[in-house]
Amino acid sequence: MRVLIVGSGGREHALAWKIDQSDRLTKLYCAPGNAGTAGIAENVNIDAEDLPGLLDFARQQSIDLTIVGPEDPLCAGIVDLFTGAGLRIFGPSSGAARIEGDKAYAKQFMKSAAIPTAEARIFDNYEQAREYVATRDCALVVKASGLAKGKGVLVCSEPAEALLALDKIMIEKQFGAAGDKVVVEERLSGPEISIHALVDGRNIYVLEPTQDHKPIGEGDTGPNTGGMGAYSPAAILDESTMRQVCSEILVPAIDAMTRRETPYKGVLYAGLMLTAAGPKVLEFNCRFGDPEAQVLLARLQTDLLDVIEAVIDGNLEHITLDWDRRAAVCVVLASEGYPGAYLRRKPISGLDPAGELEDVVVFHSGTAQAQGRIVTNGGRVLGVTALGEDVSAARDLAYRAAGMIDYNGVFYRKDIALQAIS
Ligand code: AMP
Ligand code: GLY
Repeated sequence: MRVLIVGSGGREHALAWKIDQSDRLTKLYCAPGNAGTAGIAENVNIDAEDLPGLLDFARQQSIDLTIVGPEDPLCAGIVDLFTGAGLRIFGPSSGAARIEGDKAYAKQFMKSAAIPTAEARIFDNYEQAREYVATRDCALVVKASGLAKGKGVLVCSEPAEALLALDKIMIEKQFGAAGDKVVVEERLSGPEISIHALVDGRNIYVLEPTQDHKPIGEGDTGPNTGGMGAYSPAAILDESTMRQVCSEILVPAIDAMTRRETPYKGVLYAGLMLTAAGPKVLEFNCRFGDPEAQVLLARLQTDLLDVIEAVIDGNLEHITLDWDRRAAVCVVLASEGYPGAYLRRKPISGLDPAGELEDVVVFHSGTAQAQGRIVTNGGRVLGVTALGEDVSAARDLAYRAAGMIDYNGVFYRKDIALQAIS
């Protein structure tokens, strides 16, 4: 099978690494990929958002299956374009992907489907948003409604901070047009969990729970990022809460999408907070999380091509996923300055010895090749991922490997997965 992966992050390297293990694979391309995918696939210099360019390439190269990693091309309609052209592609249509691409829509969607989520108000008028915030005396979260690479959510402790957040999003336009509309919602509290489900339009198959670490700083401080580390399994989710997540969140969401004539196909990711009043949705995403994909795919033993084909063909009921019973931990190595402006083009050392450790995979995110060397090329640079008998062992190994890698401006959180073992 000739496969094209769209995207260039750690999630896409993990997808490529997993698919490379399939007996059914004959040729693997990544567009545009990174220095890590270059080792196992042929990188093609087409941007993940160049939809016509990707379609031309898939036609010319007789691609049998295209797998889309990031949300931007999904929200822009890559699946509609490819399926319209008779090509097989994994991911939701743009109508279904709107659940991630438009947070205001997602809020209304959840409300109409009675899916538990934070109480919220939506504004496209700055003055009205200010007036509303000024009348509140509770902690609020201000979210740019559009896509902002995980950074457009500002968690505030008091209304004064929420007013500043409105300025950043609506006046300074720190997230561009994504901030034309905002969602202002009550701040919830409780542990967070990421639930991924495969959905074939009808059937839902829930994957192993994972936990992400969104803020940049240790102890969950500082601004939000795309994710600074993850681990799986996440034992915090007991069986009865998992059943509640399925019956109160996943099933109503999939049913509502079908009723709206945007049936869901692909990976549905629900970011949840386990509040005292039960699990509530913080966000839906229309694809695998990054770095959640790194720990999930490190543990998945079933052929991913079989799984993806079952989703596309509506045959999920015939699939059983086998998981490595061991735990996986991924520590993200970032560039100084991230999630703001960051250093680039810094040569990376220690990749080989770290990657040669048994049960360690170093997934690349923002990396590139320059003059025969691998250099940094993004805010999140690497996802050092390790398997171990339990979360504690996997964590020790991931940090051992991370400590072998160096570049100018390297930094990472030292408390990834700590909450799972202390
Ligand atoms: P989101 O991209 O909407 O998942 O938000 C990113 C992060 O912001 C989440 O992982 C939470 O840590 C935090 N967050 C979002 N919404 C809320 C909320 N209503 N209450 C508390 N924290 C939130
Ligand atoms: N790690 C969070 C996300 O992928 O949205």
